[in-house]
Amino acid sequence: MRLLLTGAGGFLGSRLLSYYREKYEIWAPSHKELDLTDAKAVRDGMGAFAPDAVIHCAALSDVGSCEKDPGLSAAINVEGTKNLAACAGERKVKLLFCSSDQVYFDGPAEGNYGVNFFAHRENEILHPIPVYGQHKLQAETLCQRLCPDSVILRLTWMYGELTKQEQDRGKRSLGEILRRMVREGQEQSFSTGDWRGVTDGNTVVRFLEPALALPPGIYNFGSPNCLSLYETVRCVLKPFGKEKLACPTEGNRPRNLCMDPKKAIAHGICFPDTVQGLSDFLRSGL
Ligand SMILES: NC(=O)c1ccc[n+]([C@@H]2O[C@H](COP(=O)([O-])OP(=O)(O)OC[C@H]3O[C@@H](n4cnc5c(N)ncnc54)[C@H](OP(=O)(O)O)[C@@H]3O)[C@@H](O)[C@H]2O)c1
Repeated sequence: MRLLLTGAGGFLGSRLLSYYREKYEIWAPSHKELDLTDAKAVRDGMGAFAPDAVIHCAALSDVGSCEKDPGLSAAINVEGTKNLAACAGERKVKLLFCSSDQVYFDGPAEGNYGVNFFAHRENEILHPIPVYGQHKLQAETLCQRLCPDSVILRLTWMYGELTKQEQDRGKRSLGEILRRMVREGQEQSFSTGDWRGVTDGNTVVRFLEPALALPPGIYNFGSPNCLSLYETVRCVLKPFGKEKLACPTEGNRPRNLCMDPKKAIAHGICFPDTVQGLSDFLRSGL
């Protein structure tokens, strides 16, 4: 199978490339080699390589940068995806689009999440607050319209062992933060109002192959969770006797990004729960 992989210089794309490069024929152009905002370049590139499937990881993925420069976010996250989806649709090629749980960030938290907690389903009508979430949602709609064979994966925040270059670029990995807390006895604040799943990037990489075989549609794609970030971290640190290192903070605006994983599970894709995944990551690196 011939795969076009976008964003191969990024966190997920680079790990996908090293994991699958022996198994598939992969064209993984860098941003410089193929700028997705250039519709002609995308068309020419797709024509020359003729992929059987496209895995679209390229994005302006930093939520803060999207708020600061919505025009750039629209160009990359919406127009770039549109250019790719249009070509994939014309060529009847499967498109696997990396979306985000931020599409679920859609309103003020009323009352107590502990009582009102629910896990988001793929078929909800959404009104995301952050620019990044809005643009990911627009891109999802374009993928479905222009390339009906699209598989859209709503990813959670991912963690992994970061390279020096990734650290220098400001990437943060919850798994590595927790390892540092345990090793160095460092205290750290976590929000009691931030409800979300967090997933091991390597598990996402492994499940990308079965994801290519999914029927078209939208899938929540990551570790489920029913706890706030603060409670999550306390649960993970407890077996090490380090849970007091986690300090509660109200953080910014409360949000619930937790996703219901049942649709992916029905197709055999079952991520470990967030606490389990983080605990395994922590143990493997101490
Ligand atoms: N990481 C997470 O926790 C997370 C969570 C939820 C969803 N996602 C989504 O998952 C996907 C992968 O995330 P990631 O963390 O791997 O992202 P990342 O590390 O920020 O990498 C994004 C890649 O996209 C490339 N890119 C940006 N603009 C481009 C353009 N116009 N044309 C071609 N390439 C371009 C970047 O190249 P340059 O650096 O050279 O510009 C970079 O290699 C993204 O769609 C992201 O939105 C990620």
